[in-house]
Amino acid sequence: MIPNREECLRLMGEYGMLENIIAHSLEVAKVALFISRELNKKEQRIDLDLVEAASLLHDLTKTECLKTKEDHAKTGSQILKGMEYKRVGEVVAQHIWLEKGGDPAIVSEEVIVNYADKRVMHERIVSLEERFNDLKERYGRDQRSLEFLERMEKETYEIENKIFLILQIDPNELQCLQWKSDH
Ligand SMILES: [Fe+2]
Repeated sequence: MIPNREECLRLMGEYGMLENIIAHSLEVAKVALFISRELNKKEQRIDLDLVEAASLLHDLTKTECLKTKEDHAKTGSQILKGMEYKRVGEVVAQHIWLEKGGDPAIVSEEVIVNYADKRVMHERIVSLEERFNDLKERYGRDQRSLEFLERMEKETYEIENKIFLILQIDPNELQCLQWKSDH
C-alpha cells in the first residue's frame, strides 16, 4: 500500500513536522518526481506514487528526533512499515545512506529519493557541491564526521553520474525547476 498525497500531508501534520521540514520535503518530492518522470521516458520503471509518498514522508520523525537524537531514517521507516506502508518504509530507511548491492543497471526509488534529498538544501534546489559544503560547515566539526560526509559525498556523485548518464541532461538543469516555481 502507498498513501496518496493527501494522506501524506495529513501524516506530516499529525507527526508535528516543523514548517521548514515540511517545505523541504515538498521540494524534495518535486525534484524526485521530475527525475522519475524523466527516467521513465528512458525506459525505467519508477513507481511515481511510491517516490512521491517516500519523498513527502522521508523526514516524518526528524522533528522528534532532533530532541531524542534517534536515527530518523530508522524510526520513520519503522512507523511507516507499521502502518503497512512497507515499500514507503523501505525507501525512507535508505534516504540518508543507501544499502550496498543494488542492481547497478537499475535506478530504484531508494536511489531517487536519496539523491533528491541531497539536491535540496532547506527548501532550495542546489548543486551537490553547495549542499555538501553546507553540510561540512555545519556538521564536519571533527575528523570522523568530516570523513563520514566525504564518503557520502563521493557516493552521491556516483549516483548522480548514474542517473544523468541515463537522462542525458546536465545535473544543473534541475535548478531550473526552482526558477519555474518561483516565477
Ligand atoms: Fe532526513
